[in-house]
Amino acid sequence: MLSQKTIDIVKSTAPVLEVKGQEITTAFYKLLFSNHPELLNIFNHANQSQGRQQTALANTVYAAAKYIDQLEVLVPAVKQIAHKHRSLAIKPEHYPIVGKYLLEAIKEVLGEAATDEIINAWAEAYGEIANVFISVEKAMYTEAEEQEGGWVDFKDFIVDDKKVESSVITSFYLKPKDGGKVARFTPGQYITIQVSIPGEKYIMNRQYSLSDAPGKDYYRISVKREAECNPIGKVSNFLHDDVNVGDTIKVSAPAGDFVLESNPHAPITLIAGGVGVTPMISMLKTLADQKAENTVTFIQAAKNSEMHAFMDEVSEACSKLGDATAYFGYDDDDDSSAGDFQGYIEKSFLRQAVPSSDSICYVCGPAKFMESIIRQLKEIGISEDRIHYEFFGPAMTLNTEPVETGANN
Ligand SMILES: Cc1cc2nc3c(=O)[nH]c(=O)nc-3n(C[C@H](O)[C@H](O)[C@H](O)COP(=O)(O)OP(=O)(O)OC[C@H]3O[C@@H](n4cnc5c(N)ncnc54)[C@H](O)[C@@H]3O)c2cc1C
Ligand code: HEM
Repeated sequence: MLSQKTIDIVKSTAPVLEVKGQEITTAFYKLLFSNHPELLNIFNHANQSQGRQQTALANTVYAAAKYIDQLEVLVPAVKQIAHKHRSLAIKPEHYPIVGKYLLEAIKEVLGEAATDEIINAWAEAYGEIANVFISVEKAMYTEAEEQEGGWVDFKDFIVDDKKVESSVITSFYLKPKDGGKVARFTPGQYITIQVSIPGEKYIMNRQYSLSDAPGKDYYRISVKREAECNPIGKVSNFLHDDVNVGDTIKVSAPAGDFVLESNPHAPITLIAGGVGVTPMISMLKTLADQKAENTVTFIQAAKNSEMHAFMDEVSEACSKLGDATAYFGYDDDDDSSAGDFQGYIEKSFLRQAVPSSDSICYVCGPAKFMESIIRQLKEIGISEDRIHYEFFGPAMTLNTEPVETGANN
């Protein structure tokens, strides 16, 4: 239990953290990696270079300071982060290391303003926050290990099949090397894969959503080749070019809280942008396997027809459902292939496609795509608690405030 004095000090310093958070977390990672370079085998270097991980950590530290006397408010956020930590094999012994450099970073950035009293209060508060994470993660480790086919940390899987899905997306079918069972997952969840790329100093970890329905003797991931960026994506290009049938990769047990809720009555709307289709196709195929009676709507946006993956799987899954409609469209205006919309998805389209304001909506795609879709869903009357979304990177703050109400465009 924290003393009232500690709580007061931490809460009164929260506004400083809001302003200086990014600076503190940037200094923190510098200190952390220079003193513990082995941790570069766990962290995603691209997220570091782009500042996304620093922002995610800063936002969480700020929220923790603000709600230090009611940490239960943070439980949903803690769970989402804890899933990622568990999938990366973060352990209790890592927490004091992070705590040490976080405090050093606060001292470095705040200078004399960081009195001993403030630092001591923060050390105590960090311990309290770390304990919340450690206990949530402990339960997740136990669950991952004790389920049928479960395991701890990373386990070897063999690439059993590799299938091109579009000009940019290729699927990998992964089976346990030990011939054991494949642990179940809930559609929407991801696995972390770990690869050693020749010439790279550090091991690389990346998350990939499971793209098939559960209950198979394999996990399927579907990976977009990140080639139209500078530098090109390390792991996705390695997987596409150098990982073949028979190769081994390390996999951690399925994780993540972006999952298909079991609700036998509400209409379900799945909206995918680009490679964000992977958790959506898993959800759609699961509903088809379950012969779900819900009204199901599947909306898929792709850049163009060449990049459009899973067209046949979507039609097949919809044909197994009693009341399912699939729509697709392309961003490129010059792609003349038939589609249900062209360019970006607009509110008028969503208004006619989304069956009712009772719909439970799942959205996955680039951050800007999700921002626009979620805003429009809210504008057509879907309440926030019925909209679920997944980031393919560290969570960010999305601006989804409706810009108008009652408009009919
Ligand atoms: C929950 C979750 C689920 C996911 N599911 C999928 C999925 O189903 N399919 C899928 O394809 N992906 C998925 N991803 C994304 C995936 O984890 C990887 O991020 C993606 O494959 C890119 O990895 P990479 O190693 O190829 O690229 P990276 O090497 O990580 O590069 C990523 C980006 O960072 C940029 N970058 C790298 N280094 C620098 C630098 N020094 N300075 C500036 N920019 C830099 C690159 O140009 C590139 O644009 C998911 C992510 C999460 C978190
Ligand atoms: C109380 C302490 C901690 C807090 C508040 C915290 C917070 C966060 C947040 C907000 C994220 C981003 C989650 C997302 O993807 O949306 C994250 C990811 C991560 N955390 Fe922590 N974390 C803590 C402790 C640790 C520890 C002890 C380690 C181990 C060294 C660690 C390693 C990681 C890694 C490797 C990632 C994924 C980074 C990436 O993919 O870029 N964290 N954490």
